[in-house]
Amino acid sequence: MDNLLFERELKNRTENAENVVMKYLPDPEEKLQHTVIEAMDYSVTVGGKRLRPLLMQETYRMFRGQDEIVEPFMAAIEMIHTYSLIHDDLPCMDNDTLRRGHETTWKKYGDAMAVLAGDGLLNYAYETALKSFDLIEKEGAQYEVSSETIASRYQSCAKAVTVLADKAGIWGMVGGQCLDVEAEKKDMVLSEEELLFIHEHKTAALIQACFMIGGVLAGAGRRQIERLEKIGYNVGVAFQIRDDMLDVIGTTEELGKNTGSDEKDGKKTYVTIHGLEESAAEEKRLTEEALELLDALPGKHDFMVELILSLLGRRN
Ligand code: IPE
Ligand code: IPE
Ligand code: MG
Ligand code: MG
Ligand code: MG
Repeated sequence: MDNLLFERELKNRTENAENVVMKYLPDPEEKLQHTVIEAMDYSVTVGGKRLRPLLMQETYRMFRGQDEIVEPFMAAIEMIHTYSLIHDDLPCMDNDTLRRGHETTWKKYGDAMAVLAGDGLLNYAYETALKSFDLIEKEGAQYEVSSETIASRYQSCAKAVTVLADKAGIWGMVGGQCLDVEAEKKDMVLSEEELLFIHEHKTAALIQACFMIGGVLAGAGRRQIERLEKIGYNVGVAFQIRDDMLDVIGTTEELGKNTGSDEKDGKKTYVTIHGLEESAAEEKRLTEEALELLDALPGKHDFMVELILSLLGRRN
């Protein structure tokens, strides 16, 4: 796939992913709890690369998934990711004021409403993912679908919700954030294992969920799901290494968030421990390994290869 074609395709698909996410966001209307819904809406719509829904949709396609069952999950992962950012930016966490090129949610709505907007998005993510069950029911009523097919569709969706829950919670993202916060303590020396634990959990876990859910929904086998989980690990850890690098070498204009945030908070990152050069080399190694792992999977990989490669050396 040549570069121009990829750029065009990426733009189209990002727009499409954005529309899917918007479609599932709650409407504040005239409800008494409209402020929390507005804060949720603000945090999601204000920007973002939509990388996670893109990865999920492309994995679904690779395994010949064709219908809209993946859509509630695309919206759900972006909601969980956005909630993680809202809480990550809070004064008691990373204390940041800029996100996705705009004021952070706590800066705009206050701490309490930001906590609630995060809670709201986390819960709404599951409310949304479970709408996949309604889609199966609707499809069953509309077309001649055997009861076995319907049962297996329900099973895939239930499995996908399990993956989402596992990768978002204490065994995944929340677990990583726990160690990330604790590692700020001045006298704490972080081992290589602990550093990788942080990267794997706080960032790679949700990216693994994207690959795995795409595969699970399209009926990929157990071995293939394991491979997708490994690809997600590599892509996710490489993504966080680059995020740590960008905190040092990026600009606020490019990133839409405050740079130098890790140094201000005394974070232990891949860059503070290994330096920029080694970080770039590890980012490249992990990316190349991810592409090798991808090679053995079925389906067309052109767009996925380009998407993963576009993250290597990214500027935002
Ligand atoms: C930022 O994620 C937080 C990390 C896990 C490094 P992204 O860089 O994907 O943020 P958005 O969604 O584009 O704002
Ligand atoms: C992001 O880590 C991890 C999560 C939000 C779960 P960072 O704290 O490095 O992310 P940014 O740099 O604020 O986006
Ligand atoms: Mg953080
Ligand atoms: Mg942060
Ligand atoms: Mg960062």
